[in-house]
Amino acid sequence: MKFDFTFYNPTKIYFGKESMNSLEGELLNYGKNVLFVYGKSAIKKTGIYDSVIKALKNTSKTVTELQGIKPNPTYKQVLEGARLVRENKIDLILAVGGGSVIDCAKAISVSAFCDGDPWKKYWIDFEPLSNKTVPVGAILTMTGTASEMNGGSVITNEEEMIKEGRVFPAEVNPKFSILNPEFTYTVPKMQMVSGIFDIISHLLEQYFSGEDDNTTDYIIEGVLKSVIHSSKIAINNPEDYEARSNIMWASTVALNRICGVSKEQDWQVHGIEHQIGAYTDCPHGIGLAIVSIPYYRYIYKYGLDKFVRFAKNVWEIDCSGKGREEAAEAGINALADFIKELGIPTTLREIGATQDMLPKIAYSISPEGGYKTLTHEEILEILKSCY
Ligand code: NZQ
Ligand code: ZN
Repeated sequence: MKFDFTFYNPTKIYFGKESMNSLEGELLNYGKNVLFVYGKSAIKKTGIYDSVIKALKNTSKTVTELQGIKPNPTYKQVLEGARLVRENKIDLILAVGGGSVIDCAKAISVSAFCDGDPWKKYWIDFEPLSNKTVPVGAILTMTGTASEMNGGSVITNEEEMIKEGRVFPAEVNPKFSILNPEFTYTVPKMQMVSGIFDIISHLLEQYFSGEDDNTTDYIIEGVLKSVIHSSKIAINNPEDYEARSNIMWASTVALNRICGVSKEQDWQVHGIEHQIGAYTDCPHGIGLAIVSIPYYRYIYKYGLDKFVRFAKNVWEIDCSGKGREEAAEAGINALADFIKELGIPTTLREIGATQDMLPKIAYSISPEGGYKTLTHEEILEILKSCY
C-alpha cells in the first residue's frame, strides 16, 4: 500500500429524518441570489419542492429556477445554467435531486466563469480548474452516485455523442448536503436498483486493483456486505428506514474518496457504461450491471488472488476444496445471481442498444483498467457477449 496521501473532502453532511431542518441555517451562510436546480417532476410530486421554496422564502432569497435537468444531464443544460448564474449574479447553486442534478450543478459552477469552451477545457482536455466557481449545496433524493460528497460531474454532450466524467478538486464538492433516507422511498424500482448497482460498481472498481495489504480493501468489503444485505431488505420493503439509511450512507461512502485511498483503481466498467449511456440514455447503474459480469469473467485471471478473496470475504463462499479459478468464478457467479435478484436486465438489447451501435460504442471508449487494460477489440467482444 502506498501510505502516502493527503485526504481532504470538505462536505458537511446532514443525515436523517430531521435533516431538512438544517436548510435555512445553511442558506444564511450565502448571499441573496440562489439558482434552484432540479429535475423533471419528482420533487414537486413528493412535496420536497414546497419545503425548499419555504426555506428560500424564510431566508429572503431571490430565486431563479432551472427545472428539467435530465437523467444523464446534457452540456446544453450546463451552458443554460452558466448563463443564468452570470445574469442573476448567483451566490449559491442549490441542487435538489439525484446524481444528475447535482452533477449538473457542479458543471454549472465550474463553467459559469470559464474562459473558452468549458466542455473542451474540463471534460476533453482535463485541464486543471483555473477559474472562480460558485458554491453548490445539495438535497439528495436518489442514492447511488455519491455526487453529494465528491467532486465528480458526468455530462453528456449530445452533439458529440460523448458522456464524460470529470473529478474536480474538493472545492467543487457540495459545501453541504442534506440526506433524508425517507426522500428515497418514492424512487421507482428500476431507478432504485440502478442506484444500488452503481454503489456496488464504485466499490468493485476501486477494489479490483493492486495486490497490497490495504486498509481500504477491508473497508470496501464491509461496505459491500452492508449494501448487499440492506438491498435485499429494501427491494421487498422500500419503506424500511434502516435499510434505506444504510444504502444511502453506503452510497456516499462508496465514492466520497475514502474507498479510493491508496488504490490504483480500475474504472473500465464505468468507461464502457458512459458510452453505452451516450448511445442509449439508459439508467447509469443498469448499464454498469449488464457490462460487469462479462467484464469480470474476462479479466479475473489477471487478478486471481483478489477475485478469490472477493468470493471468500464478500460472499462468504466456502472455497475449501475448490481450485483458485473455480473459487474466483464462484464469487462472480454470486454477483450475477444478486443482479438477477434485484431484477436488473442482463442484456444491452433490453435497454435499447442495437447491433450497429456496438462498434461505435467500443471504439469511442478510452481503454483503461486495473489488472488488465483492454483493447478496443476486446471491449467490442465484451459488448457482443452481453448484447
Ligand atoms: O427528473 P426527476 O423527476 O427528478 O426524476 C428522477 C430521474 O428521472 C428520479 N428521481 C430522483 N429522485 C426521486 C426520483 N423519483 C421519485 N422519487 C424521488 N425521490 O430518478 C431519475 C434518475 O435520477 P438521476 O439523478 O439521473 O439518477 P442518479 O442519481 O443515478 O444519477 C445518474 C447520473 O450520475 C452520474 C451518472 O453517469 C448519471 O449521469 N454519475 C455521477 C457520479 C459522480 N458525480 O461521482 C459517479 C457515478 O459513477 C455516475 O457516473
Ligand atoms: Zn457510477
